[in-house]
Amino acid sequence: MTSSEIRKKFLEFFANKQHHIANAAPLVIKNDPTLMFTNAGMNQFKELFLGNQSAVYPRIVDTQPCLRVSGKHNDLEDVGKDTYHHTLFEMLGNWSFGDYFKKEAILWAWELLTDVYNIPKDRIYVTVFGGDASDKLSSDEEARTLWKSVIDPNRIIDGSKKDNFWEMGDTGPCGPCTEIHIDLRPDSERNSVDGKTLVNNDHPQVIEVWNVVFMEFNRMANGSLISLPAKHVDTGMGFERLCMALQGKTSNYDTDVFKPLLDNLESICGKKYGENEKTDIAFRVIVDHIRAVTFIIADGQLPSNNKAGYVARRILRRAVRYGYTYLGLENPFLYRLVSVLSKQFAEVFPHIEKQENFIVRIILEEEQSFLRTLSFGLKKMDSTMDQLRKANTLIIPGEVAFELFDTFGFPYDLINLIASENGFSVDENGYKEALLVQKTRSRADSAVEAGDWVNVSDDNEPVKFVGYDILETTVEIQRYRKVKAKGKEVFHLVFTPTPFYAESGGQVGDKGIIKSENEVIKVLDTLKENNLIIHVTDTLPVSLSDSFIAIVEKDSRVRTQKNHSATHLMHAALRQVLGTHVEQKGSFVSPDQLRFDFSHFSKITDEEMIEIEQIVNVKIREGIALNEQREVPIEEAKALGAMALFGEKYGDTVRMITFDENFSRELCGGTHVKNTQEIGYFKLVSEGSISSGIRRIEALSGESAFDFVSLELQGLKEVRETLKASKNLSTTIQRLLDDNQRLSKELEQLHQQNLSLLIPGLKSKFNSINGMNLLVEKVDVNSADHLKKLSSELRKVTENAVVVLASNIEGKVAVLIQCDEELAKAKGINAAQLIKSNSSLIQGGGGGQAFLATAGGTNVTGIDAFLSAVSQTFKNIA
Ligand code: SER
Repeated sequence: MTSSEIRKKFLEFFANKQHHIANAAPLVIKNDPTLMFTNAGMNQFKELFLGNQSAVYPRIVDTQPCLRVSGKHNDLEDVGKDTYHHTLFEMLGNWSFGDYFKKEAILWAWELLTDVYNIPKDRIYVTVFGGDASDKLSSDEEARTLWKSVIDPNRIIDGSKKDNFWEMGDTGPCGPCTEIHIDLRPDSERNSVDGKTLVNNDHPQVIEVWNVVFMEFNRMANGSLISLPAKHVDTGMGFERLCMALQGKTSNYDTDVFKPLLDNLESICGKKYGENEKTDIAFRVIVDHIRAVTFIIADGQLPSNNKAGYVARRILRRAVRYGYTYLGLENPFLYRLVSVLSKQFAEVFPHIEKQENFIVRIILEEEQSFLRTLSFGLKKMDSTMDQLRKANTLIIPGEVAFELFDTFGFPYDLINLIASENGFSVDENGYKEALLVQKTRSRADSAVEAGDWVNVSDDNEPVKFVGYDILETTVEIQRYRKVKAKGKEVFHLVFTPTPFYAESGGQVGDKGIIKSENEVIKVLDTLKENNLIIHVTDTLPVSLSDSFIAIVEKDSRVRTQKNHSATHLMHAALRQVLGTHVEQKGSFVSPDQLRFDFSHFSKITDEEMIEIEQIVNVKIREGIALNEQREVPIEEAKALGAMALFGEKYGDTVRMITFDENFSRELCGGTHVKNTQEIGYFKLVSEGSISSGIRRIEALSGESAFDFVSLELQGLKEVRETLKASKNLSTTIQRLLDDNQRLSKELEQLHQQNLSLLIPGLKSKFNSINGMNLLVEKVDVNSADHLKKLSSELRKVTENAVVVLASNIEGKVAVLIQCDEELAKAKGINAAQLIKSNSSLIQGGGGGQAFLATAGGTNVTGIDAFLSAVSQTFKNIA
């Protein structure tokens, strides 16, 4: 069976058991502060388990790309070293939301593995939860009894809390689980060592393939467990491992999931996979990591220096360095593997193929930039090691290692490797300390501490948003929690229905108030967390169980939706003018402005900007009515040409916003004007690049656009008036600039002439004193610079010249003392000192060297006194 057939069989098996085939959730999670990436198939169903949302389908089956590189589930360090851990893997899952429980889950898993996939029964082992005293949980006898009905009891193993109690993270839904393991060893080995002893023991061929979780509890922030409102089933089968088992391989990398990538990499580097353990690890790391990086970018998350973006960057760099060090790949190569993935996943995850060119460019750029720092970092390491050798130490200090990591982007293991090649070791504790300091700092910056939810009423209705239609409604508070964010304490209130739009899809959250007979509480912001709409307040209502009226601040909302609709019109106009490669990469829509990031590889010209602006304004004037469809099946929306925004989470039905079916149609949860005419006016303000291949446009609409234009026009009017140019302003300005240039030139010539005219008169004023030819004069020049020029001309007039000049330049004093350097030495002249000691006479200051010093001052009446004081000093020099 090919991997696609294996996947298909799984989905079909459960579809035949009344499961709805669901889409995967995005890999990059946008609205859950506890999780950056989908790390289990159940993430997108968390709210269903908690009972905060009701299930449309009680049974679901799907395949979910998962990433396990951070937080509670992190496999990164194992990847490549073994043959069955991955950063990104597909998880096949079947789900019951308050529907079937242990019996069906266990018996169907058995049926699928043994009857459909035909895995020999004597190669299967199962584990059941053996109980845990600290959580006061007894062993899972129900699961054991069910398994006994199908499998030899000798093949059932008791498992600890670590292996058999599944938790998503520190808090959230959890429960006991039963795992299914397969023994893939050849019979000879199976006969000599009992497979049972190898289960959960890191044996590469006795591996867990399926985890069946019975979701019953919610782990609270204080560590306690409370029962969920209903019992659910969450199963996750490692797709790549299943393929290995069914394709008769002993490594995930030998399956058709990884083989095409390995073949491609072999031809890129000219080395063979399977010949040498060191290069094999590199091969595995690279073909694993490119999958993770590709999926992350395809989801709209670009490599960057923080959070999810940094995870993408770290994974990518790890792959680049394995290629560089072990496969001799000194030029970008990862980007060349993207096309393999795009073909491989065309059917299940078509968003890869759709964005192939974009992904390739981003990865190439990242590789280029790391390869640049990689060689600098290597040089830095070399020079550090040289210095250390001279100082007779062979330990690289922790701070240096940290700098290599922090500045040059070196992963720690690379630093360690290069160090050991050169007979060095790294002060790991010092490195960890430096890292910890940085981590603690960044954690403190972004720490958000959320307390547990406190229920106010028994009402557990899923949150309903009514703000598309009304801005005011009566509500009752369901629950609240206290949250500390950046040292400030705020409250999160949940009520339903709510007219408040929660920040998402780039549109900011609504502000407003909730009021009861006795109190008025300000809503500062509205956020989304999974499917909850959270109203942020800085005070908690005194009587929480009162009835409140929730009122959205209308003015901000109206201005925001003008900007949002204008964003859609602009998106369509961009695709019309620049091409259909333009895809949204981010947006920000607030009452005051709109910002839109999109894929495009060159600067947008002035002509294109004008055209885009014109198209949007024409569409505004056309007065196109909003066509809002709320429950469109996703397939239908796509068939109608709606632009799907990858990285946004969509259910099986979507909301479609159309302004003229031949112009703009997008999947969007935001709020919009009823008719484009409401937008009034649209103005582009700026255009620029924010990273490779991504441009950002900022624009205004409605009143803000009008105000912006008025202000600009007012400024222009003032300029016109000043220049007395009613028409052809730019011609007038150009003429002024030309005149100015010509006049400056003429003036400079006149000054030069003036200077030369001064020289003959001054020549005769040199006095010979003590082997020096001293000239002390007040002159009439236009700038301090001219004073210098004059002095250098005068020094040529005679041997051993000492020139002391002063001038009144537009009410300010400029003075200068200059002579030959040798003369200054011979006579002990110190011009700088002379200036300093006499500068009080001109009320100023300055300085320089022994042979040339200058000063400026404000007291023009002191010029004569200054000159005679200096001249007296020279007369005193022997
Ligand atoms: N949530 C479980 C896991 O991730 C089963 O899907 O292993």
